[in-house]
Amino acid sequence: MTSKAYPFGTPSFKAPSFEAPSFEAPSFEAHPFLEVRAVKKSFRDAKDGDIHLVLSSIHFTVNEGEFVTVIGPSGSGKSTLLNIIAGLLPPDEGSVWMQGERQTARAGKVAYMMQDDLLFPWQSVKRHVAMPLRIQGVGKRAAEEQAERILKTFDLIHLGDRYPKTLSGGQKQRVALARAYIQGTALLLLDEPFGRLDALTREDLQAWLETIWLKEKRTVLMVTHDIEEALFLGDRVLVLSARPARIVLDLPVPFARPRKKDVRLTEAFVAFRKTLMQALAEDTQRL
Ligand SMILES: Nc1ncnc2c1ncn2[C@@H]1O[C@H](COP(=O)(O)OP(=O)(O)OP(=O)(O)O)[C@@H](O)[C@H]1O
Ligand SMILES: [Mg+2]
Repeated sequence: MTSKAYPFGTPSFKAPSFEAPSFEAPSFEAHPFLEVRAVKKSFRDAKDGDIHLVLSSIHFTVNEGEFVTVIGPSGSGKSTLLNIIAGLLPPDEGSVWMQGERQTARAGKVAYMMQDDLLFPWQSVKRHVAMPLRIQGVGKRAAEEQAERILKTFDLIHLGDRYPKTLSGGQKQRVALARAYIQGTALLLLDEPFGRLDALTREDLQAWLETIWLKEKRTVLMVTHDIEEALFLGDRVLVLSARPARIVLDLPVPFARPRKKDVRLTEAFVAFRKTLMQALAEDTQRL
């Protein structure tokens, strides 16, 4: 993966300019892995019938193998954006492209761990992880063998015969991630995969996810509300404004991988965190 130059001049960490990215026609010579082009989305309010603009004009690209994180205020439209990229929700305007082709349905190209992805109480861990393959028509034995391989990689093999009610919150999140990963799709969409966990468990799982991602390279777009998590995991961090959302900052993160837990204590990390906080705060002042 190529690291990108820091766009605002190396770490003097002045507040960057938060002008909206330009929406010029992208180059079609080399296709970015994922391209979200000027996507707009509104919802009609169920009570008063008013139409609320949620995504104002979202445009960004993700390169193959990149881990891009997205942060933004609650209700800004992060899950809506992932639903559109996954092909579960049509945009009002704009389009989503993958490897140069317009994406209109999930069609086996995208694995999506949704914000409240639940495990079924009646299925064992191994069955959960094998399930997406079974749905794709893979035979039981082959699917379970593949599930065992993924469970080993995810360090979950000892939990294979357990049922969700006997798992901790962190273990459940890891199983849900394994279930998304096994689909083998090149693009993995993760919506706050560690959202409900305490800070220490989150830190462990962030390091764990990075290790997996370095082994089983995929292109990842992950939503989080946690600035540190976005920085620790991302090659780039996209900052969404409050509703109607637009991208106010696209920040490359240069820390070498694998990232050690205590990278969070370094001056550079703290300065990046400040830049992201400023981007979020600047947007709030604008309202
Ligand atoms: N199907 C829908 N119909 C109507 N309004 C919707 C629908 N889905 C989302 N919304 C509204 O769109 C806005 C954005 O919702 P979304 O779930 O995308 O936000 P979010 O950034 O993921 O929030 P959070 O950080 O709390 O998960 C919210 O105001 C929400 O109420
Ligand atoms: Mg959400």
